[in-house]
Amino acid sequence: MALISLPIVWALSVLALQYAGAARSPPMTTLPSGVCTASTFTAALPKGASVELAYPVPGGGSFGEGPSNLGYPLNATNLPELCAVIIRVASGGSAYRFGLFLPTSNSWNSRFLATGNGGFLGGIDWVDMAPGPHYGFATLSTDTGHNSASDQSWAYKNAEAQKDWGYRAMHGSVDLGKRLTAAYYGRDIAYSYYSGCSTGGRQGLKEIQISPNSFNGVLVGAPAWPTTGLMSWLTALGTWNLPASDPKAFTTTSQYSLLASTVLSQCDKVDGLVDNIISTPEACKPDLGVIQCGKRGVDAKNCLTPQQIQTAKKVWNDYYTSKGDLVYNGLELSGENQWDVYTLYGNTENFDTQWEKYWVYSDKSWNLRQYTENVFYDSVRANPGNATADAFDISGFRRTGGKLILYQGLADGLISARSSLHYYNETVKAVGGGNVDDFFRFFQIPGMQHCLGSPAAVKAPWYIASWGQAAKLPGTAGGYSVPGFQDPEHDALLALMRWTENGTAVDSIIATAWNDDSSGQDLSVYRQRPICPYPKKATYDQKGDPDLASSWACA
Ligand SMILES: *[C@@H]1O[C@H](CO)[C@@H](O)[C@H](O)[C@H]1NC(C)=O
Ligand SMILES: *[C@@H]1O[C@H](CO)[C@@H](O)[C@H](O)[C@H]1NC(C)=O
Ligand SMILES: *[C@@H]1O[C@H](CO)[C@@H](O)[C@H](O)[C@H]1NC(C)=O
Ligand SMILES: *[C@@H]1O[C@H](CO)[C@@H](O)[C@H](O)[C@H]1NC(C)=O
Repeated sequence: MALISLPIVWALSVLALQYAGAARSPPMTTLPSGVCTASTFTAALPKGASVELAYPVPGGGSFGEGPSNLGYPLNATNLPELCAVIIRVASGGSAYRFGLFLPTSNSWNSRFLATGNGGFLGGIDWVDMAPGPHYGFATLSTDTGHNSASDQSWAYKNAEAQKDWGYRAMHGSVDLGKRLTAAYYGRDIAYSYYSGCSTGGRQGLKEIQISPNSFNGVLVGAPAWPTTGLMSWLTALGTWNLPASDPKAFTTTSQYSLLASTVLSQCDKVDGLVDNIISTPEACKPDLGVIQCGKRGVDAKNCLTPQQIQTAKKVWNDYYTSKGDLVYNGLELSGENQWDVYTLYGNTENFDTQWEKYWVYSDKSWNLRQYTENVFYDSVRANPGNATADAFDISGFRRTGGKLILYQGLADGLISARSSLHYYNETVKAVGGGNVDDFFRFFQIPGMQHCLGSPAAVKAPWYIASWGQAAKLPGTAGGYSVPGFQDPEHDALLALMRWTENGTAVDSIIATAWNDDSSGQDLSVYRQRPICPYPKKATYDQKGDPDLASSWACA
């Protein structure tokens, strides 16, 4: 199957011409140890791989593939001077592509950074690569073997493309990307890193499971690691929210807001401080009677039916099959504002059943009403693309001296925060010895949603410059690190580097909330607070300003 369609090839050649034109105006730097032309890279390529493009981007320039890059149509902007490269690799009957941003030889920090993808999106994620070269990293992103936005029909009866998405495109891209980087600069890479969240979290964990030597340091957020369970749970959620008995019962966005504000008002204080942040969601048992339609004193226009309340409880609870097998952990209290991302479909046709259609059953007519818990067992049996990252014994990675930081927003409404804790727990068991502090630390971020951000009513400190955060922070297009706090105390990637290279273990990271990070108009600090390695929690000293990190300690 041709993964790159004709219009895209066309767009790419147009792109190459435009770049060639644009490149004439700013003076081009001749790199001491490598020139940014296709032939530089062609010489270093194995059979089956080819250079699609090598293009010198001037300082302040932008780069991307535009709208033809379906998964990632936006371009990276405000880049430092670098060489942008696109490599295409034939892969078991299919093919994948990857992109590299190679800073000038003088500004290269001798390090390599691979970045992850999101959801099932196909394409090179240029925007989320952009912070990398600002640090000096040679930075990589893979297209995971397909070009698509939300449509997953590329996976239909296509085991090779499924494998590419599952792990092969990342592994092959990292392997070749590192070799090309070393060849380009004419010297070895000193350290290799990974940064990704969500699907990118899964990709990072998967890579260290199959290849302990790929990275020295790995920064992984909200990993979608149990693909088979997660995708089955997602479909189950559709059946709970759209019960066959009453298809009109689905919960609306304004009802989710009501649910979120009710949970916030009851659970905020449980951690001992009223600050709009639910820091111990596991300790709260909200009373939803106060918003149940029909109960005395409840606004009949702004309430949840008993059935909707039961559905909410199912979403919070871990989901087991009738045989007692865990399908997926429940979402933690405080993520309700994001629940509509999955469930806001008032009919079964629009609900996302692509997993069953294209991955598990190869049946394009598969319908939500066909869901039974067998979907879970069939998914586990098929394990399409071997995407699930559940080989918990990563002692091979530990033996190489590798360091792993896992972080997770507790208000994540898409990936279960408990599922990340589950991953941590299983790893502690699997690597033996019961203590993993020397190489693996898990940080929960109270009030942070999926990978980044915190609801307006919460404004929890969430920003640690991890994947997607700097690239997507409004007002800092092309920014990187933590504006105003570019140090390993505040920047999770710098903290990981210091741990990996200097042995300074990461005992806390100070997370930041900005005054206005929705428009980016005011990126002064609203409040800061440390996040702590599990099982420690940030603990208030009961006297200082709670908005200052210095009033908190990890205990
Ligand atoms: C991104 O870059 C492509 C190729 O140069 C260009 O066609 C497109 O207009 C750019 N998009 C934006 C939003 O700048
Ligand atoms: C699937 O991936 C795991 C790592 O997550 C690996 O240990 C296992 O060997 C792989 N299985 C196959 C059949 O490739
Ligand atoms: C993880 O382990 C802790 C401590 O053993 C336990 O309290 C917690 O319930 C476990 N959580 C999950 C999701 O496995
Ligand atoms: C390691 O320590 C040295 C000496 O203090 C410092 O200059 C360097 O920046 C540190 N490296 C990292 C990655 O933090």
